[in-house]
Amino acid sequence: MTYTCIETYMPRPRVGAIKLHRPDVLNALSLQTMIELVDAFSAFDSDPEIRCIVLHGSEKAFAAGADISEMTDATTVTMLERDQFARWERIRQTKTPVIAAVSGYALGGGCELAMVCDMIVASDTAQFGQPEINIGVMPGAGGTQRLTRAVGKALAMEMVLTGRPISAQQALQAGLVNRVVPVQWYLEEAYALAEEVASKAPIASRLAKESVLKSFSTTLEVGMEFERKNFYLLFATDDQKEGMAAFIEKRKAQWKGK
Ligand code: CAA
Repeated sequence: MTYTCIETYMPRPRVGAIKLHRPDVLNALSLQTMIELVDAFSAFDSDPEIRCIVLHGSEKAFAAGADISEMTDATTVTMLERDQFARWERIRQTKTPVIAAVSGYALGGGCELAMVCDMIVASDTAQFGQPEINIGVMPGAGGTQRLTRAVGKALAMEMVLTGRPISAQQALQAGLVNRVVPVQWYLEEAYALAEEVASKAPIASRLAKESVLKSFSTTLEVGMEFERKNFYLLFATDDQKEGMAAFIEKRKAQWKGK
């Protein structure tokens, strides 16, 4: 697929990067952008060379939300037919760990897209918000669910009902982001974190990610069972034999992803 709204590249060995690139509209997430994002995530996810993915926008905007110009005349029926949020779900199903590098505006669907990622590295200029209430609607892609799980009811309710964004520092305090760094370094910081993740045993990484995410959708008992089975499953991999042998032999493990 030829991309017009995003760009893809490899900033480091084994790290795939996706850049949102609609500068004129602060990276508003049009339907075409979401189609391209699903394609890019799926291509990286099926490439065994890629062990971690970084998603970012520009310094000014990660993304200012779903593209409002595409929704002004929508009806309930056209929204149902479009089923645009199914694409968010496809991105959530990416098995490779994903890091969002967020600078500037992460609003509405932009904040929700960052929250679909596994970790968030924020620049000190980032602001996270769910301003849908200001345009007569409400979040539709996780802004009432993932945000509440991440920051708790009090702050989520305030953000969703007032539409007011929070700063990167507030997001850090609330547990929404992993770290905040000066804007000139936020991408480097995200690449470095991605490189670290990419250096680990890839099947273990994928199953570990899957297990952490499971905790959001099930009971503790079922989640523990799920975790245990994934743990046992890893004993069928060459990387488990290699990892433990390398520890005993005091050398660096050579992962095969098998
Ligand atoms: N959709 C479409 N276009 C957008 C956009 C969006 N979400 N956000 C910004 N733009 C466009 C503006 O229309 C403007 O275009 P023109 O130059 O052609 O007028 C351009 O981007 C620059 O924006 P501003 O002039 O408004 O820039 P600013 O610096 O003054 O303000 C801002 C920046 C505060 C982010 C402001 O643009 C804004 O409030 N944007 C909308 C944010 C929003 O409401 N997002 C939620 C969308 S709904 C949603 O996401 C639903 C969901 O749950 C998925």
